[in-house]
Amino acid sequence: MKRLFFALQFSPAQQQAILTYQQQLIAQYPDARIVTADNFHLTLFFLGQVDGEQEPFLLSAAKTIAPIDITLTFDKLGYFAKPKIAYLAPSVIPEPLLQLQQQITQLCQQQGFEVQHPEFKPHITLLRKVDHEGLLPACLPLELKIDRFALFHSTQIAGQLRYVPLNE
Ligand code: 2AM
Repeated sequence: MKRLFFALQFSPAQQQAILTYQQQLIAQYPDARIVTADNFHLTLFFLGQVDGEQEPFLLSAAKTIAPIDITLTFDKLGYFAKPKIAYLAPSVIPEPLLQLQQQITQLCQQQGFEVQHPEFKPHITLLRKVDHEGLLPACLPLELKIDRFALFHSTQIAGQLRYVPLNE
């Protein structure tokens, strides 16, 4: 079994741009767990544990989706209290992102997976294990043009948590 999820993928340059937002927060939460830049992603559908037989079906179903070209403006820092994460998010969800998320959701549901979140809240997790009090700072908008998504494997490599894209 592998722990898998579909997510938007960022280029190395985009990862570096996102990193500056994480750096703004690190001073405020010195005890938080830092997400490494190459693990930044925007979850489209979280599958959880997937067995070896289902993985190729998910990969080939994902290949039927047309190439993407989505511009997102990330303009707010936020906090999810239950998983204790601080994130960067767009305040507007553009139609092409919703369409892609719905297509991926449909193909995952066809493979028998259930939606885990009643509402899609696109975000990039910057810090985990955050004990948050008060307001998060305002931030400057970051516009990113995204042209790829992937099925990611959440795994440990040399003792480090890594999200490895499977369809490359
Ligand atoms: P993430 O913060 O790394 O994207 C499983 O619940 C995972 O789905 C979470 O660890 C979180 O991973 C992501 N997630 C949680 N709530 C979500 C939501 N409302 N919309 C999209 N992804 C969500």
